[in-house]
Amino acid sequence: MKVALTGTPGTGKSSISEILSKKYKVIHLGDFTEARVEYDDTRNSYIVDINILRNKVDSIKDDGIIIIEGHYAHDMTVDKVIVLRCHPNVLKNRLEKRGYKASKIRENMEAEAMGIIVDEALSMYPQNKVYEVDTTNIKAEEGAKIVEYIIEGKGGKYLERISYMEEILKWY
Ligand SMILES: Nc1ncnc2c1ncn2[C@@H]1O[C@H](COP(=O)(O)OP(=O)(O)OP(=O)(O)O)[C@@H](O)[C@H]1O
Ligand SMILES: [Mg+2]
Repeated sequence: MKVALTGTPGTGKSSISEILSKKYKVIHLGDFTEARVEYDDTRNSYIVDINILRNKVDSIKDDGIIIIEGHYAHDMTVDKVIVLRCHPNVLKNRLEKRGYKASKIRENMEAEAMGIIVDEALSMYPQNKVYEVDTTNIKAEEGAKIVEYIIEGKGGKYLERISYMEEILKWY
């Protein structure tokens, strides 16, 4: 079974997947450097070819539980999608600690407030395959436990939709 672990930058994909790597096989999409086609100077990030990533993921033998980690993970062919979420104000703190520039922080806060990744996931997968985990007020270890629950089929309550949409109104 392949499980996508996705989310806006800073929601905790790397932190949680590192904990889970003790128990499960983890594939980091960022490691497929051959999928990078261009560097976007204005956004300080690579533009990647999703089809190259898809082919890579499809070629991974599906034995046991495999976690596919990265903010394109929901674009891959998987059995379950887990979207990590974080309140935009807390996400701001996390990204500030990384030294991201203001525009990049803002862009990610907006993307998270609008729920872009969940929307994308729901456009590709049925509701009952798209889980959401709010990492705002918990530690990565707790987040990892919840992801484990979901992987084991005990995470039904995490099919509930999360929205930080009302936050946007407070910004203007
Ligand atoms: N519940 C939580 N789960 C995960 N990370 C958390 C949590 N609470 C706080 N954090 C912190 O938030 C940060 C998340 O960063 P991390 O690199 O894991 O995010 P990411 O989703 O992998 O981002 P990127 O897409 O840029 O790779 C870390 O500093 C981590 O310690
Ligand atoms: Mg990461």
